Amino acid sequence: MKFFADTGDVAEIREIQSMGLLDGVTTNPSLIAKSGRQFKDVIKEICGITDGPVSAEVAALDYETMMKEADVLRKIAKNVTVKVPLTVDGLRACKALSGDGTMVNVTLCFSPNQALLAAKAGAHFISPFVGRLDDIHLDGMELISEIRQIYDNYDYDTNILVASVRTANHIKEAALIGADYATAPASVLKSLVKHPLTDKGIEGFVADWKKTGQSII
Ligand code: E4P
Repeated sequence: MKFFADTGDVAEIREIQSMGLLDGVTTNPSLIAKSGRQFKDVIKEICGITDGPVSAEVAALDYETMMKEADVLRKIAKNVTVKVPLTVDGLRACKALSGDGTMVNVTLCFSPNQALLAAKAGAHFISPFVGRLDDIHLDGMELISEIRQIYDNYDYDTNILVASVRTANHIKEAALIGADYATAPASVLKSLVKHPLTDKGIEGFVADWKKTGQSII
């Protein structure tokens, strides 16, 4: 499973990169607003940190303007992935951009049928938002299972990029289902390594090693 950092904060991205966990980055308009920086500057800087796909989202809602914005975004760097919303215009843009060799991430997916349409439009990534479904007491992981089954039934190449990840458990469940990617906040990615028994075990080994009075080097 590949991991994307879901953030517009370059310090966080560098930290995940230094841990060897970074396969790419996703941003969205809310994350860019949170960064307080210029969108295109942030995307350019992120593309200098990772060679992996970096999702940059169009702001327009109509096809023509989406295509113009996508043209600006994809020129920033080779690894820019254009992110479009799951709407009729977004799917049209996805089809046109994918046909042109641009990687497209179709975002704001909340149903298996939406994911099916994104695959038919040639999306490289589909982003189902599991956390936001859980927030309204629906089952985000059930959506991931259903998309996995549909894509496998028809051998679609579209990658399932689990988004709106809130917990380490979301990552585990998505991996068990066989999702291709997960995009998560840096805090969630960093939490994956933690287990209290690992910490306790280290504490015990350090204390016992000290008692031996030995040194390896
Ligand atoms: C994905 O690409 C989105 O940026 C993100 O995962 C949304 O997460 P949220 O529901 O926590 O805002």
